[in-house]
Amino acid sequence: MTMSSCRTRFLVVGATSGLGWHLAQSFVFRGASVLAAGRRADRLRALHSRLHAAKAQGTIFINPADVMRPATLAALVSAALETWGGLDCVVYASAIYSPSSFEPSSLARWRESFDTNFWGFHYLVTEMATRVPNRPMHLIAFTSSLALHGESESTAYGLSKCLLEAYVTRVDMVLAQERIHLHILDPGPFRSEMNPLCEVPACAASNAMADAIWALISACPVEPPSRSARVRR
Ligand SMILES: NC(=O)c1ccc[n+]([C@@H]2O[C@H](COP(=O)([O-])OP(=O)(O)OC[C@H]3O[C@@H](n4cnc5c(N)ncnc54)[C@H](OP(=O)(O)O)[C@@H]3O)[C@@H](O)[C@H]2O)c1
Repeated sequence: MTMSSCRTRFLVVGATSGLGWHLAQSFVFRGASVLAAGRRADRLRALHSRLHAAKAQGTIFINPADVMRPATLAALVSAALETWGGLDCVVYASAIYSPSSFEPSSLARWRESFDTNFWGFHYLVTEMATRVPNRPMHLIAFTSSLALHGESESTAYGLSKCLLEAYVTRVDMVLAQERIHLHILDPGPFRSEMNPLCEVPACAASNAMADAIWALISACPVEPPSRSARVRR
């Protein structure tokens, strides 16, 4: 499939359900190029078929990946570079909510929460900063009102989000001079695999988040490819 080099190029991680699933579609309907990732290959194929059938304006590519395995995140960035020559925006929607108490038996779940909700994002920031040539670039993560408040069983999830918030604030300051911009957004509660009883549909949250992400990118637009890059493509 041929890719348009002037489209915004997104990597959406956690695109197999909930917010990431809707955001990936929204970006493609708005004409962007999207590489969608998550562990469930069948869900990624369903996303691809859906957008193909709808004859969406942009393009969708899919690539299974487990954020707990840094090598698969590096492979995602490689795939984007090989296909597009660059990557403008990473949207990190992968997360787990794993109820966990203060017991030794919960340690593995605490670790899984931090690996999925925080470390995967850090690996992607590192990969992007060291390997992707184009600037500016944007990396988006999501936090939650449970970061600081909530039932005791949400402590590991909440702390992973606290760390993510602090990380985005701190690392954005460090990388801003390189025109690498980190952002954190709070979508508010919505219904998803993680939060199945919520009344707010995921598409409502995703519409607001898609608008917010486009606004962030527009405020600091991605540069068109250079003349020589255009000729190469
Ligand atoms: N739902 C809410 O009420 C709410 C409120 C505030 C903030 N948020 C935040 O919004 C974001 C999206 O949440 P959601 O509610 O849409 O969640 P969701 O429907 O449960 O989706 C979570 C996504 O994370 C992916 N994921 C989990 N473990 C992974 C792994 N090891 N490797 C790769 N992907 C993995 C899942 O894909 P696979 O299982 O296929 O890998 C899935 O695509 C999260 O950051 C969440 O914390 C949600």
